[in-house]
Amino acid sequence: MPAEYTERSLLKYSQKLIEMFKNPKNIGEMENPTVTADEGDVQCGDAFRMFLKIEDNVIVDAKFLSFGCAANIATGAATTEIVKGKTVDEAEKITIKEITESLDGLPPLKMHCATLAFKTLKKALENYRKMQK
Ligand code: FES
Repeated sequence: MPAEYTERSLLKYSQKLIEMFKNPKNIGEMENPTVTADEGDVQCGDAFRMFLKIEDNVIVDAKFLSFGCAANIATGAATTEIVKGKTVDEAEKITIKEITESLDGLPPLKMHCATLAFKTLKKALENYRKMQK
């Protein structure tokens, strides 16, 4: 098989991921968030910001800004959708597998894009815990 076909198959996105990229949920800035977090990916140089609004230990709203690729935008949207309505304790237990499975998986070469969204969520939750002390 020619190398170009192998490469293409590694970058094949699921229909769910494509839909989430075309109509990303929760993208944009948030006014008066309880907590924000920024992360970057050394592999590609892209950046990601997450905003969480937390009331009585429940994440009532979540938004994000992405300076990344289609996979990062889709996983940012999926991550914010998954955390909304969860308690902070529940959100801390979310796994990257849960996020990628909600998009029917990611090509292996794009897993770092999902990791960027996931790491930013974890950092936002850590920032929230620090604020509580
Ligand atoms: Fe940078 Fe996807 S290539 S986030």
